[in-house]
Amino acid sequence: MPGESNAKRDAFTTSLGVLFATLGSAVGLGNIWKFPYLTGANGGAAFLIVYLLSTVLVGLPVMISEQMLGRKARADAITTLRKLAPQGRPWWLVGAAGALASFLIMAFYTEVAGWVFAYILKAISGNILTTNSALTTAAFTSLITSPLWSLVWQWIVLAWVAFIIVRGVSKGIEATTKRLMPILFGLLIIVCVRSLTLPGAVQGLEFLFKPDFTKLTKDALLIAMGLAFFKLSIGMGTMITYGSYFRDDQDIPMTATRVMLADLSVSILAGIAIFPAVFAYGFQPDAGPSLLFITIPTVFASMPLGHLMLVLFFILTSIAATGAMLSLLEVPVAYLQGQFNMTRIQATLLTVGLLALVGSTAALSNSTLANFTLFGKTMFDLFDFISSNILLPVGGLFICIFVGWVWGGKQVKAALSNEGKLKNEGIVRLFLFIVRYIAPVLILIVLLNGLGVI
Ligand code: PFF
Repeated sequence: MPGESNAKRDAFTTSLGVLFATLGSAVGLGNIWKFPYLTGANGGAAFLIVYLLSTVLVGLPVMISEQMLGRKARADAITTLRKLAPQGRPWWLVGAAGALASFLIMAFYTEVAGWVFAYILKAISGNILTTNSALTTAAFTSLITSPLWSLVWQWIVLAWVAFIIVRGVSKGIEATTKRLMPILFGLLIIVCVRSLTLPGAVQGLEFLFKPDFTKLTKDALLIAMGLAFFKLSIGMGTMITYGSYFRDDQDIPMTATRVMLADLSVSILAGIAIFPAVFAYGFQPDAGPSLLFITIPTVFASMPLGHLMLVLFFILTSIAATGAMLSLLEVPVAYLQGQFNMTRIQATLLTVGLLALVGSTAALSNSTLANFTLFGKTMFDLFDFISSNILLPVGGLFICIFVGWVWGGKQVKAALSNEGKLKNEGIVRLFLFIVRYIAPVLILIVLLNGLGVI
């Protein structure tokens, strides 16, 4: 059967392994880079609340749905939807749109990962380790406005993920991520403590936790929901693919809830690490994508062992980003392997080659192609917008409709209770209610509203 290889099917052997692998996909630049800068640019606490609501009411049910479908079909995303849908219905298109989304996300994600990789060297050299905000800003600007270095770092990242994915995921990165993720967590806590003891830290905390709903723009709703999808790696088939490696006795609602909570914790820690420094050193919270790169060095510059920890921070961030990129790349690679009978090497080389091409337009968005815009956005912003704010929510909407209305309650009950072995009827009933009525309606309203239709 295309897309199904038995060697892969038993990849996740322990329950904890499943948890870490899924977390490895969820935790990445989304937490450390995207969440803080979007929260900063969209009004702080009020945005955080909308993001939390989207995560619980939309993100969690979609994640459970995807994992459940993947485990049931034990196949890649497209094959899963084809297998489980009624004969002849084009539900596989949802999987195909997901493959496109993963491609677009990779096109700009690899660029940001390139900045993180570059920052490892900058951190080692020590010249960004300063509390002078003009210097940290200048260092970042000079990196992203250099066409050559933007491309070179993106290619280095692409070569790095291709190298790992060709070798198989489980032994390399999965094992590494599992060991290093707790260190990232620990390091974030240390940075938070330092950040919280900076003069003016309270202002940063108020920004992050004291909501002012007048700051919430219409666009912020769609952006917050898009972030919830992006963060949990849902709406594009990644969690279907991962679900296909789950054990039969895995408690899916419980696993998804734990992943969601752990992922949220990392994001909030990143927020606590960054915002106090923003206010303490006179940065603007709405600086955009540069926020992480200009604030973090200043926090480390003002603490003991800061140099070493800054290096560690960017190494760990690059590892978290790698885990997420591998899960992103797995979607088109598994698809090409399954549908076109390509070898893993061929599928990887083709995907990475295309990514280098398309991704270069994102990489050059701050230099050569800065004035090349479509719908008023540079390619970097456009790829991000189309994937997070359109393709993922639309994918999630169709997943909800499929699970709630096409696949049906009986199948869902059987799948989520592990064929009756788990006594979780109440949870399943709540899930069905949300996936049928709440999540799809919310997605539709936010989507249409964000796109200016209503
Ligand atoms: N969840 C990842 C992050 O927050 O960095 C990004 C991501 C990975 C998005 C995998 C989508 C995906 F399928």
